[in-house]
Amino acid sequence: MLFVPHSLLLLKEALIFCLEGNEDQILHKKALEDSIIETCETYLLPWLESAVVDGNDEETLSSILQIFQIILSRASDNKSVKFAEMLASSSWFSLSFGFMGLFPTDHVKSAVYLVISSIVDKVLGFNYGETIRDACIYLPPDPAELMYLLGQCGSDDFNLASCQCAILVILYVCSFYNERLAADNQILASVEQYILLNGGKFPHEVPGSLMLTLLVHLYAFVRGISFRCSIPHSPEAEKTLFHAMSCNEWDLLLIRVHLIALKWLFQNGELMEPLSFQLLNFCKTFCDDRIITLSGSSQFVDIQMIAELVYSGENCISSLLVSLLNQMVKEGAEDEILSVANVITEILVTFPCTSDQFMSCGIVDALGSIYVSPYSSRIKTVCSLLIFNILYSASGVTFTCDNDVWLALTMKLLDCFNSSLHHTSSDQERKILIGILCLILNHSANKVLIEPAKAIILNHCLVLMMDGIVQEACAKGPSLFQHNQETAFGDFLILMLLLIFFSLQSLHAILEASIDWQDFLQYSDETQSFSVLGIPCHDLCRLMHFGPSPVKLIASQCLLELLTRISDQRSFLNAELRCSAKYLKSIIAVTEGMVFSQDSRVAENCGACLSVVLGWERFGIKEKAMIRESKWSRLILEEFAVALTAPGLTSKSFTNQQKVAANIAVSLLQLSQVPDWLTSLFNESLVSGIVANLSARNVTAEIVNLFSELMAKKYLNQEHIAGLHNLFQVCRRQAYEGGGSKAQPSSEKKTGMARSSEDVRALLFDMMLGHRAVSYTTVEMEQERLLREIDSFFFQESSLREQR
Ligand SMILES: *[C@@H]1O[C@H](CO)[C@@H](O)[C@H](O)[C@H]1NC(C)=O
Ligand SMILES: *[C@@H]1O[C@H](CO)[C@@H](O)[C@H](O)[C@H]1NC(C)=O
Ligand SMILES: *[C@@H]1O[C@H](CO)[C@@H](O)[C@H](O)[C@H]1NC(C)=O
Ligand SMILES: *[C@@H]1O[C@H](CO)[C@@H](O)[C@H](O)[C@H]1NC(C)=O
Ligand SMILES: *[C@@H]1O[C@H](CO)[C@@H](O)[C@H](O)[C@H]1NC(C)=O
Ligand SMILES: *[C@@H]1O[C@H](CO)[C@@H](O)[C@H](O)[C@H]1NC(C)=O
Repeated sequence: MLFVPHSLLLLKEALIFCLEGNEDQILHKKALEDSIIETCETYLLPWLESAVVDGNDEETLSSILQIFQIILSRASDNKSVKFAEMLASSSWFSLSFGFMGLFPTDHVKSAVYLVISSIVDKVLGFNYGETIRDACIYLPPDPAELMYLLGQCGSDDFNLASCQCAILVILYVCSFYNERLAADNQILASVEQYILLNGGKFPHEVPGSLMLTLLVHLYAFVRGISFRCSIPHSPEAEKTLFHAMSCNEWDLLLIRVHLIALKWLFQNGELMEPLSFQLLNFCKTFCDDRIITLSGSSQFVDIQMIAELVYSGENCISSLLVSLLNQMVKEGAEDEILSVANVITEILVTFPCTSDQFMSCGIVDALGSIYVSPYSSRIKTVCSLLIFNILYSASGVTFTCDNDVWLALTMKLLDCFNSSLHHTSSDQERKILIGILCLILNHSANKVLIEPAKAIILNHCLVLMMDGIVQEACAKGPSLFQHNQETAFGDFLILMLLLIFFSLQSLHAILEASIDWQDFLQYSDETQSFSVLGIPCHDLCRLMHFGPSPVKLIASQCLLELLTRISDQRSFLNAELRCSAKYLKSIIAVTEGMVFSQDSRVAENCGACLSVVLGWERFGIKEKAMIRESKWSRLILEEFAVALTAPGLTSKSFTNQQKVAANIAVSLLQLSQVPDWLTSLFNESLVSGIVANLSARNVTAEIVNLFSELMAKKYLNQEHIAGLHNLFQVCRRQAYEGGGSKAQPSSEKKTGMARSSEDVRALLFDMMLGHRAVSYTTVEMEQERLLREIDSFFFQESSLREQR
């Protein structure tokens, strides 16, 4: 053991040598310094811990404390902070009082407190350690005595007062590392007594706001802890501190704070006023340097903490934010509105479900006031985005009680459209407003926000604007193709078409009874404009034919929606078709033409439209004639037949569209009068060829469905059925064996938020696609559909066998 003191001395000298400031050999010195720090961590600290248990070697303890002290006070910032954190989280404070108990000398005491003060400097900042250095000689070596001192009146005794500051600092630091100098109820009692006895003129010494801030945080932490264990508290002390908080300066954001403390603070209704001021400050700093606050890991109040608190509920942050917003809107403080709105948006991004909370605090009302005041376009844009995001992430339940608020807001938004009818405006704000209208309409499909939705659908200005832009688009003819979302006109057109799509959905959900869907089977120049927000099928066909691909997609989606509604209503009312044969033929021609579309979603929509129209054959002679005349269907199916029997001969794009063609074939087979050409096409040799050429890998649900239909209509012989039976058995086995690949994480739903009008458009687009009746989103769904179709094929096969 004799050589231990010498080794420590050597270590210390080496450390000092490393930290000495000349520039040569800097790399070697760094490496040596690192390895010394590592030695401290891995050998000396554990050794100290065991020394508390059995050692009584004061000299060694002092040497080690000196080395630690040198690292804490002289190593580079990063290294010393890391070292301080390491010590603090290794129960350093309990350990320290252990040393002082074992070696009750002044020398050890001052060395121990010096190390503690350096740790405090590193982990709290602001020279809080100074309070401990100042009071060092008066500080007792025993935690129980510390607690006792804290509970005394220090106003007449300068030394006692400075001890008390040091004790508060030590207690505060301990709170972050889950260390306690005494039982929770004892700490609470001492802190309360300190407040009661010194409440008149604390805080002392250290610049006022620093110490008061620390006291507030400490008190809140202790209260938060004791609340959990239902330890009683002194209302008088609470009152005294709250009073100090409202008359003196303190700063929530100044030092790191424990989540428990923050939570307790924001649960106190009496603190609304001071906290609201603090929260506004937070919003301002958040917007000034978003990056710094977001990446700061050292437990300063940051957006993550605030968001988590809002998410956890049971506190007043959301209502404080909303009332701040309200107040700032009334005061016309643009910068502050921006700050608060940004913070709320950030919280929504982190936890979309907090949207409901903000709504129940009245955020919609607060934001609505923006539109009746002369605010800058920048403010209106930010607030509109916030409304959009709230609507986007709100769950339906919250709306039921808020109908009036939303109606009022909707009317204000609609007024914005009335005031200027520049429909080619590329203005961000206007686009976001359209996005909001779309979301209201989408919600109305779930039977909430019905009145606001009606106001939109029946708004005359909007209807006129819609007509205007659709006419302008149609008038462009083939050159419309160039107007994709990159151009101002295309961008606006896409948004307006999305609005039409959601309007059609909403019409179906809330105004079904008063809509004559056949009104949409008109030429746009035949009638004066609609009284509801919609678009004639004919115009949709033109947009599909000439438009760029996003326009094609939305228009085809709208057309499918309209045709489906017309079909349903006709079946229900047994209504005769009111449009001309020519009109219907042009719809058929356009949709048939686009079954070959590059975009498989457009192709699917068009295929589905065609199937709907083919289904009208059962309604009357007029329809029968038109469908018989259709030449394209024949071409499509002949190509389909070739693709199935001689796959090499067809173009790649056609193989992608086989599903669509199979569906059309099924629709044709279901006609009351199957066209002759179809019967001769699917003759025995063709079907044999298809069955021979199919392999289990390329069987789809649509193909199976087609064979079910062929079987039902007696196009298959026994040999075909046997062949298909075997083939489908193989498919089924493969689907089950491939169950392993089913386990792959299904593409989880993106809960995006909009930060710009481009995001708004993208989110609306995804929402529209989410409504698609046939959506081939995941491999699993596809697989499931295939198995279902195969099962129904087998079922049908066995029932046919029984009939025989
Ligand atoms: C200290 O750490 C920060 C971030 O961890 C880093 O960016 C910086 O370069 C480090 N400084 C030194 C001197 O290592
Ligand atoms: C839009 O409506 C659909 C169907 O009613 C619903 O499932 C979806 O969640 C809604 N989307 C939003 C963002 O509200
Ligand atoms: C829209 O403007 C027209 C004329 O500019 C006016 O008559 C009408 O009342 C306005 N509508 C709304 C809802 O303000
Ligand atoms: C089906 O797959 C087989 C091989 O897996 C291939 O030879 C054949 O061309 C495919 N048939 C069709 C119709 O794509
Ligand atoms: C079946 O149809 C093909 C043309 O689609 C024709 O070439 C063939 O001769 C027909 N076979 C029979 C047996 O009718
Ligand atoms: C595919 O179909 C063609 C045409 O019916 C036929 O001649 C050929 O033999 C089939 N191929 C296979 C692999 O059965």
